[in-house]
Amino acid sequence: MKFRFVSPAFISLIVAVVVFSCGSGKQNNNQTKSKGKMKVESKVFGNVDGKEVYLFTLQNNKGMSVSITNYGGIITAVYTPGKNGKSEDVVLGFDNLQSYLDGHPYFGALVGRYGNRIAKGKFVLDGHEYTLAVNNGENHLHGGLVGFDKKVWEAEPFQKDNEAGLKLHYLSKDMEEGYPGNLDVHVTYTLSDMNELKIEYSATTDKPTPVNLTSHSYFNLTGGEENVMNHEVEINANRYVVVNESLIPTGELRASSGTPMDFSKMQSIGSRYSQVDGGYDHCYVLNKDSNELSLAAKVVEPQSGRTMEVWTTEPGVQFYTGNFLDGTLTGMNGVVYKKNYGFCFEAQHFPDSPNQPDFPSSILKPGETYKQTTLYKFSVQ
Ligand code: BGC
Repeated sequence: MKFRFVSPAFISLIVAVVVFSCGSGKQNNNQTKSKGKMKVESKVFGNVDGKEVYLFTLQNNKGMSVSITNYGGIITAVYTPGKNGKSEDVVLGFDNLQSYLDGHPYFGALVGRYGNRIAKGKFVLDGHEYTLAVNNGENHLHGGLVGFDKKVWEAEPFQKDNEAGLKLHYLSKDMEEGYPGNLDVHVTYTLSDMNELKIEYSATTDKPTPVNLTSHSYFNLTGGEENVMNHEVEINANRYVVVNESLIPTGELRASSGTPMDFSKMQSIGSRYSQVDGGYDHCYVLNKDSNELSLAAKVVEPQSGRTMEVWTTEPGVQFYTGNFLDGTLTGMNGVVYKKNYGFCFEAQHFPDSPNQPDFPSSILKPGETYKQTTLYKFSVQ
């Protein structure tokens, strides 16, 4: 069933009816029982520019659920168990659409057409200079003024054996936010019965264009009880992208060994945080030389026992520790989002790649298909 822009009567029907149980249809009853129930539930979340917006909740039978709205493809909640068996929300987000419309720093959002910054909102492609919308000082950030995080996506929930998911589609028109080419984008979220949340991106274009899609969840594995300084982090990287005071890459990829930037071995976020000017907000260069799905980072939260692994096909991961959160937003369950109340692992190409000839290219050409996968895997130790 596709959720396009439908009538209120149809919405009521959807709300009442759309509960999908895994194993129905072609499975026999025994298999259905042994495989348990994976569900997708949906409800109306609100309305944006006359378009209905829904909240879909994917639920497995291991105590994990993920809520996603087709406004911005935003992940609003991820409930996952701790060592006491209690499932708690481990991402920053809101329980109502209006809070997202009022403004937020990309909580859980699908970011595009280009994740992170493009210097001065300008780049040259095939001899032509393009000027993008500028929304971060003099720079372009996360796709501009109205990025993919603020678009209403077409949505189609699905369920398979041991998986439940949501397919999203958005057509970004030629010159939207200044980018060339009609970009046809598909993103699929899949929750497995192994507590893995997989995000698959694909896109095609009719003109060469930069593309760098990412997911901007802010995690707090305590369930929001304190800031993330006691979380322990390991990143599979020996280098990071050096940036200037406006967070624009200088072009240098610097070794992190022996510095506060080094997470090649498990370290708490707080152990050297005060030695990093402005806090962690850097793209790490993953130790890999191909685009295979590989382990990018591991996180352990000792108190709850929750752990998270990040796997990706991307060459980099932006590690951001919520340095700009300031306590002005209150989220789900009444948690006040103060400085460092969440951390992000945004798998992506390096910032400002369109202006950095030595970075892996982020240019998609007609006839090619952009394909990336990122996986967040939760467990308990
Ligand atoms: C960037 C930060 C920015 C944050 C929220 C992160 O991806 O690296 O500099 O403040 O997103 O926009």
